[in-house]
Amino acid sequence: MPFDRLEQVLARDLESLEKEGTRKGAESVIVRVLPTEGDRGPRVLLEGEGDRPFLRMNSNGYLGMALHPDVIAAEQEAVHEFGTGPQAVRFISGTFAPLVELEARLADFHGREATTIYSSAYAAVMGTLPALINDATLVISDELNHNCIVNAIRLGQPAKKRVFPHLDMDALEAALEQGVGRYQRAIIVTDGIFSMRGDHAPLDRIVAIARDYDDRFEENVCVVVDDSHGIGALGETGRGTEEATATRADLLIATLGKALGVNGGYVVGSRTLIDFLREKSPYYVYSNPITPAEAAAASRALELLDSKEGRNRLEQLRLLTRRLRAGLEKLGFESIPGEHPVVPLLVRDTARTTELVQHLRAHAVLATGLAYPVVPKGEDEIRFQVSADHTPTDIDELLAALGSF
Ligand SMILES: Cc1ncc(COP(=O)(O)O)c(C=O)c1O
Repeated sequence: MPFDRLEQVLARDLESLEKEGTRKGAESVIVRVLPTEGDRGPRVLLEGEGDRPFLRMNSNGYLGMALHPDVIAAEQEAVHEFGTGPQAVRFISGTFAPLVELEARLADFHGREATTIYSSAYAAVMGTLPALINDATLVISDELNHNCIVNAIRLGQPAKKRVFPHLDMDALEAALEQGVGRYQRAIIVTDGIFSMRGDHAPLDRIVAIARDYDDRFEENVCVVVDDSHGIGALGETGRGTEEATATRADLLIATLGKALGVNGGYVVGSRTLIDFLREKSPYYVYSNPITPAEAAAASRALELLDSKEGRNRLEQLRLLTRRLRAGLEKLGFESIPGEHPVVPLLVRDTARTTELVQHLRAHAVLATGLAYPVVPKGEDEIRFQVSADHTPTDIDELLAALGSF
């Protein structure tokens, strides 16, 4: 039979994941979303679970925008006006007004000259980094950077890649020092928020180090940050790690699919950089962008974020996050300090993590256990993610379920 030997190898790989307890396995299927009712936030119904409503503590929708009536209306209006999909890449048949409007809005929101949209943040990183890397480039990367950064560096094939221990600024500086005189261009790349931990890069220090060394590299030292989890979730006005550290990277990449509640990714930077990406970035040139309706919905979500309502949602998010953190501490659980709505509960044991996730599910709470290789060995955790459309009662229900473990 064709593929039979290959399939045996693949099946063995799946079995070993099962044995190690790291197989992700069957996915929950959400069959209905129930809106906020009384003092409880939205709930979901799952396939095979009947009418039992589940509290979702594992969504990246930090601002609750996916269920916002204005965002839904913007998407509905645009889908009627422009149809369901882009139907071609942009250089072939042009683009739609909602995408251009969203790009202008994003550039303005982040105080940059220009933006370009990709189908996802993963695609944005894969499309951007390799386009900036050549065979005279040194790339310096945090060891806990997201998988898209790791793969983008691989694809870029730099002259040298240096990976520094998580947040270790001395190691970052040493890597730059060693690159002086050897490489023309240096790129420092980091997550803003590290999504498995909820901590963030010391971007102010990274930018300061980059500026110190800038003159010693012929083609500059460029700082690239992927703040997919930070935008709309961190900082007084939701401008993420840049706002929290009062600094600005040379190139900022983020998603439209988490706090903004829609789908897609983007890059903001100087006009020249963005023009260059539109010519040279294969994930932009050869792949469809988001739909016009997604762009219209994301524009509306961004407008809401940058309004009084957005500030209120961010404040609610901070209050709920603090409530969860305080509750975990009271119950004697270990976490990682931070202000971001990713609140990790460190279990440090794969089997116990699985047990705890099952216990929570039995109490109608959805949470995700993370094990190696998603997190480093020995750092098995449950990642709770708070949203502005959760309520204090929701957080208390989660804490009660944890307390009964
Ligand atoms: C740092 C980072 N970049 C990119 C992504 C992927 O975002 P998207 O779903 O838009 O591709 C994630 C999502 O987990 C992320 O944490």
